[in-house]
Amino acid sequence: MIRKARQQDVRFIHGLLAKYGEQGELLARPLTDLYEFLRDFVVAEDDGGRLVGACALHLCWEDLCEVRSLAVLPQRQGERWGQRLVETCCSEAVTLGFNKIFALTYVPEFFARFGFTEVDKKLLPNKIWADCINCVKFPDCDEIAMLLEL
Ligand SMILES: CC(C)(COP(=O)(O)OP(=O)(O)OC[C@H]1O[C@@H](n2cnc3c(N)ncnc32)[C@H](O)[C@@H]1OP(=O)(O)O)[C@@H](O)C(=O)NCCC(=O)NCCS
Repeated sequence: MIRKARQQDVRFIHGLLAKYGEQGELLARPLTDLYEFLRDFVVAEDDGGRLVGACALHLCWEDLCEVRSLAVLPQRQGERWGQRLVETCCSEAVTLGFNKIFALTYVPEFFARFGFTEVDKKLLPNKIWADCINCVKFPDCDEIAMLLEL
């Protein structure tokens, strides 16, 4: 199932993002950040109660939010956890009244499956780049911006 994250899940999320962060697949996040933004997160939990993935929906601007920090354990990929995590975040965005969701990603093909299309990063409001200052690649971002209009 996919459920809202709890504070007890933070260490799992931290380790998961750190692992992929080391490989340069996404931006790892410090514990302090994860506790502060815990309400952004959902986690995927299997039938045995084991956590297998996580994803965050971050509210950015008028009618714009971001799917970020999406990751599924390597050994549990291909079981549709990623799909369910993204769909859950998109549903929550709609519930909150948002119609535009974007992702900055190295796997645009994955997001394209759900109707996201590539857009010029320059079209996204400046505010979204605030977190990028912490990225090792800043200011030479090579992620691809994908946008879904609901
Ligand atoms: C990207 C990621 C979250 C996908 O999670 P997953 O649980 O393996 O994906 P799913 O099983 O839900 O896949 C759903 C569909 O997308 C496809 N898919 C999965 N990863 C894909 C990728 N990297 N590129 C294109 N398609 C992909 C699957 O083949 C499946 O297709 P199908 O419907 O034809 O069977 C996972 O590979 C991951 O954690 N990667 C490392 C971290 C990362 O890159 N995160 C994204 C940061 S924005």
